[in-house]
Amino acid sequence: LRVAVLASGRGSNLQALIAAREAGELPVDFVMVGSDKAKAGALQLAETAGIPTFTLDPKRYAHRRDFDADLFAQLDASGAQVLVLAGFMRIIDGETLKPWVGRTINVHPSLLPKYRGLHTHRRALDAGDAEHGASVHYVTSELDGGPVIAQARIAIQPGDDEHRLAERLLVHEHQLLPAVLRLIAQGRLALTQRGIVERDGQP
Ligand code: GRF
Repeated sequence: LRVAVLASGRGSNLQALIAAREAGELPVDFVMVGSDKAKAGALQLAETAGIPTFTLDPKRYAHRRDFDADLFAQLDASGAQVLVLAGFMRIIDGETLKPWVGRTINVHPSLLPKYRGLHTHRRALDAGDAEHGASVHYVTSELDGGPVIAQARIAIQPGDDEHRLAERLLVHEHQLLPAVLRLIAQGRLALTQRGIVERDGQP
């Protein structure tokens, strides 16, 4: 399975994917890593792993749609079949995304449908929640609103602050995202009109 990844930040989730692949646990080829930030750590990690990269600077576009059109032209050209958003901090235009719905996934640091958007750790703490978590979901035009595929849960501890909670959760994201991508690579997941279908596939 040919997979492209978009990331805006340090890229620890990308690194987890690369590591899973190198460990022989993830039967995919990473054909492209793209970013909206030239300095994203994710780009460095990709280059080290020998994965082609590209950066598109949103400031050079007057309209978000034009940026997204160029972004997805790059993805199409890469031959990617599946797209993973691993800390990609931009909303994608709904029309542009359409052909990719059902083959684009995102990792989000909350127990969706709780806390879509930003500052999820702080919001969970402020709400006095007993637990927090991460979700991997299919991406639709609704921000962090697509069907949830899998979640990891952790208990919020008395000493947790935003930073500590984020750090403790990240370890789980690094398990969850490769695990879901593996299911997809094995042909065991599909998004249908009725929602997510999981089936036995070829291992
Ligand atoms: C992760 O917490 C991810 O869930 C969120 O942004 C963070 C990205 O971290 N969307 P990294 O760049 O993968 O290290």
